[in-house]
This record gives sequence, C-alpha cells and structure tokens, in this order.
Amino acid sequence: TGYITFDPGFSNSGSCTSTITYMDGAKGVLRYRGYPIEQLAETSCFVEVCYLLLNGDLPSRAEYQRMSVMLNDHSLVHEDMQIFFQNFPRSANPMGILSSMVNALRSFYPELMTTEEAIETTFLRLISKVRTMAAMSHRISRGHKIVYPRPDYSYCANFLNMMHDSPVRPYEIKKEFVEALNMFWVLHADHEQNCSTSTVRAVGSARANIYAALSAGIAALWGPLHGGANRAVVEMFEDIRKSGGDVKKAVKRAKDKNDPFRLMGFGHSVYKTYDPRAKIMKKMCDKVLAVANTEDPLLDIAMELEEVALKDSYFTDHNLYPNIDFYSGIVLRTLGIPVEMFTVMFAIGRLPGWIAQWKELMDDPFKKLFRPRQIYVGETMREVLPIDER
Ligand code: CMC
Repeated sequence: TGYITFDPGFSNSGSCTSTITYMDGAKGVLRYRGYPIEQLAETSCFVEVCYLLLNGDLPSRAEYQRMSVMLNDHSLVHEDMQIFFQNFPRSANPMGILSSMVNALRSFYPELMTTEEAIETTFLRLISKVRTMAAMSHRISRGHKIVYPRPDYSYCANFLNMMHDSPVRPYEIKKEFVEALNMFWVLHADHEQNCSTSTVRAVGSARANIYAALSAGIAALWGPLHGGANRAVVEMFEDIRKSGGDVKKAVKRAKDKNDPFRLMGFGHSVYKTYDPRAKIMKKMCDKVLAVANTEDPLLDIAMELEEVALKDSYFTDHNLYPNIDFYSGIVLRTLGIPVEMFTVMFAIGRLPGWIAQWKELMDDPFKKLFRPRQIYVGETMREVLPIDER
C-alpha cells in the first residue's frame, strides 16, 4: 500500500541505525566506535579491535588478557570436523569451504545463546575457530599436515604459523609480518552496511541462528565486486604483467562501455574519494617488502596503473579511486598467503564486524524482518490456458 520508493541496491536507504562504524564517503573518513581507522591501524592489534566492535570500547589490559585467554581456549576445531575438510575436492574454493564449515559449526556447538556468558563464548569461539578452520582448509588443500594453534602465540602469529609451519622447515615468526597481519585485519574489521553485512543482518532478521547468518555473509563476500575483488586485483595485475606490462590497455578497456572489464580495486559504492584504508595498505606494501627483503613486480604495475588511471578524466569524473583491495594482495603475497586464500583473509577480518552488527540487530527492540518491496514491471492479469492450448 502507498508509495514504494525505487532504490536499486538500497544505496539511498538506511536499513538500520547503528553505533558501530561511521563513514563519510565524500571525505574518505572511516571510524570504528568513533576511533579513526588511521589511529587504530597504527596502534591497536586485531584482538583489541574485535573487543572494540563487540563491546563498544577498547579493552583495558585485564579485559584484553581475558579475551586472549578465551580465544586460545576456543581455538581448536572439533576433530570430527576434519573429515569434512578432507573430503572437499582439493581444488574447492576455500570461500565455499569456509561458508559451509561455519554453518556446520552450529551442529557441533549447538548451545543456545540464552545467557550473556553463552553469547560471549559463541562470539569468541567463532572468531577463534574461523581462523583455525581457514588455515586447516589451506593445509588440507595442499596435502599438508594440519598445524594446531599454540597457546604461546598471539592470534595473528598463530595464523601465520598454522599456514606455514613445516616439520622440515619450522616457520620463523617475523614481528613485522605479525604487525602487518594485525593491520590488515584491523582495516577489514567493519564497514557498516556493505553487501555481506546487510546479508548477515537480513538472515539474522528472520531469527536464523548466528552461524547461518555468518555463513550467508561469507557467501556474499565471495563475489568479485565485494571481497572477491582482492583476488581479482592480483589476477588483473598478473595478466597485465604477462602481456608485457601495458597498464594503458587496462585503463582503455575499463573505460569502454562495450567491454565488461572493470579496473578491479577501483571505485566504491560509498567512497567517492581515495579509500582511507587503501592509503594505509599502500604504505604497508613498502614496509613488508622491505622486511622480506624482496621486490614485487606487481607493486610497480599497481602504482603505474593508479597513476595512469587517476590522470584520466573518466576515473576522476566517475569518482573512481583505489579501494582497500587495490594494494592488499601485495601485502598478502609478501606474507606468503596464496591468492586463493585472499578473500578468506578478508572474511576472517570482517567476522567481528558481522558479529557486532548481528548483536546490534538482536539487541534492537524495534528490529524488523528485512523485507524490501519492489516495483513490479511484469505481466498484468492473464488467464491460465490448459496445457494443450498453450
Ligand atoms: N572500472 C571502470 N568503471 C567503473 C568501475 C571500475 N572499477 N567502477 C565503477 N565504474 C563505472 C561504471 O561503469 C559506471 O559508469 P557509467 O555511470 O558511465 O555507466 C559508474 O562507474 C558507476 O558504477 P556503479 O557500478 O553503478 O557504481 P557503484 O558505486 O555501485 O560501484 C563498485 C561500486 C565497487 C561495485 C564498482 O566501483 C566496481 O565494480 N569496482 C571494481 C570491483 C571492486 O574493486 N570491488 C571492491 C570494493 S571495496 C571492498 C569491499 O568493501 O567490498
């Protein structure tokens, strides 16, 4: 009844009120719970930011330590789940595996979230186990032995170790790589009502369980216009490199309206200027490459592509600037993360944001079932003909 506003993609509709993340797309501002992303990336580790998103404030030392202990206590994955990981085809996309396994977690940990304690345990269990499961799926896909989390390693150090440790070549933890991973996940931790977060809220609004909602969020993130862009960007750089490094050709193709090609890692639904996360990520590329004492030819391609694109009026007229995914793959490659795991890395980082948004929805006394309307443009009334007369 009444008027229905046509808002494709809901880009002009506020679907909720929120106190978690503030974005100003015109000015390139991003804050979690009021704290500027630049300060958080510089000074806070991922676990602190998880606490901030979930609880509304940064933790005291005691709160941080308690959370670290809980993350450690919940870091193992039920041994019976290993059979699922082992039976996926080796070539299975790890995003499909992660989405399925997060949904499966509910069957292994069916406790109802009826007390504050059970709610906290569920959140921390998810944050801890998703990281373990991501590393497990990678190891199994390569035919490598699973590496278990260690109590003496931090959240990020543990992940790197679970990905890379080997009985014949023990993984040497580099402090700077751990810092880079912390920063990478801090930058990804929340981004208000993006596609995957809105999916988590939509599924949650039907009062489906949190595992189902997060599994749906992971599926949404998989898409190349969303989290899947970090993989697509590096594949685009590789294609440019293999075909002789001609960035101008990519720019020309991206402008051609008859060509579906887009510059991956460029443009954003909300930022109409440089993505503040991309600025930090770009600096981090130089830092990690210096620590690794290596060069990445893809960084040169990225910088040249950015320069050529931003000199072209098509990009500035359309407000297309590098987004978080433009430089993130170069950081991940330097940390030894394979390209098929890039979007999983995004998912681990976004998990606390999804959970905080789900919690905010559940705590909202006025929450409504997500139920957008449409503008119907199909057939009007028709008579059904018997099958032989059609
Ligand atoms: N390359 C070339 N043209 C583009 C691009 C691009 N990357 N992005 C948008 N455009 C053009 C598009 O063709 C359209 O042109 P016109 O108005 O002349 O027809 C105009 O810009 C608006 O495009 P849109 O798709 O309606 O705009 P949007 O704000 O909804 O798009 C976007 C946002 C992220 C889907 C888009 O910029 C894109 O496809 N970028 C590449 C994929 C990417 O990097 N995604 C990661 C986003 S950041 C990580 C995350 O949070 O998920």
